[in-house]
Amino acid sequence: MKPYVYITRKLPQETLAELQEIAEVEMWMEEEKPVPRSILLEKANKAAGLLTMLSDRIDEELLRQAPYLKAVANLAVGFDNINVEASSKYGVTVCNTPDVLTDTTADLAFGLLMAAGRRITEAAEYIKDGKWNSWSPLLLAGTDIHHKTLGIVGMGRIGEAVARRASGFDMKVLYHNRRRKIETEERLGLSYRIFEDLLKESDYIVCLTPLTPETKDLFNEKAFKMMKDTALFINVSRGGVVVEEALDRALSEGWINGAGLDVFREEPINPDHPLLRHPNLTALPHIGSASTETRLKMARLAVSNIAHVLQGIKPPAAVNTGNHE
Ligand code: GLV
Ligand code: GLV
Repeated sequence: MKPYVYITRKLPQETLAELQEIAEVEMWMEEEKPVPRSILLEKANKAAGLLTMLSDRIDEELLRQAPYLKAVANLAVGFDNINVEASSKYGVTVCNTPDVLTDTTADLAFGLLMAAGRRITEAAEYIKDGKWNSWSPLLLAGTDIHHKTLGIVGMGRIGEAVARRASGFDMKVLYHNRRRKIETEERLGLSYRIFEDLLKESDYIVCLTPLTPETKDLFNEKAFKMMKDTALFINVSRGGVVVEEALDRALSEGWINGAGLDVFREEPINPDHPLLRHPNLTALPHIGSASTETRLKMARLAVSNIAHVLQGIKPPAAVNTGNHE
């Protein structure tokens, strides 16, 4: 009998071939709703592989009830929704989708930076709301991007790709990372700063750090107060790194100039959330890697990750060692 694999969201049929040859594959077919927890647990109970979204929680409770599970492949580079330590304990290989989404996510991060700086979404809403009555010198005037200082928090692959884009805009690029990266600094002309100094010196602060116990709530009241009152804060990583009440106050009380967020503590964010009332906040529905090309590559990679593990071969992108070695 072929091993059973459950996919928690509908993926294009054309991305599944590698897996369908060796497994019985089933998918959650509803486009608008994520798979309910009870169904996920039921499917996990017989699955050798789960292909998951970042909104699915893979925790000890699930792993305990999944006796045949060998692989969990997240359709994301981040995997804070998965308890990796418990997965290793249960012999489950956890996989993600790095590299294929690096440039696409960097494009969006830079787009959000530009939208925040030049008030692009605000201006677009202004015209569609019928408010454009005359041209005037400072109408919707934003902040320059070129020759400003960009501070990147989290210098992984996406951070490097954002830094490369910034050099085309003649920006000075600072970065903070848990581990200093001398070779990257030299290659891309970056300067390392401790976190506090990066906050104080940057005009644009872009957060790309993964969500871990160390980075949870990193952007709190103290952090926003350290930023320039002209600073723009961009978050393309995970909502959990930001204390949203603190950001709300920072925007209400003018500690910073504006923000661009692709991620929120709770997703989807409630439309009545206080953050969404700020005209100087650009909000996007977690679309960092959402280009058609990249999402297809991510789906193929996640499928390939599971197919490898089920065949006892080291998968292209594992984040733990599971039981395949
Ligand atoms: C998206 O947020 C990802 O982690 O890929
Ligand atoms: C994280 O994996 C990144 O690519 O920045």
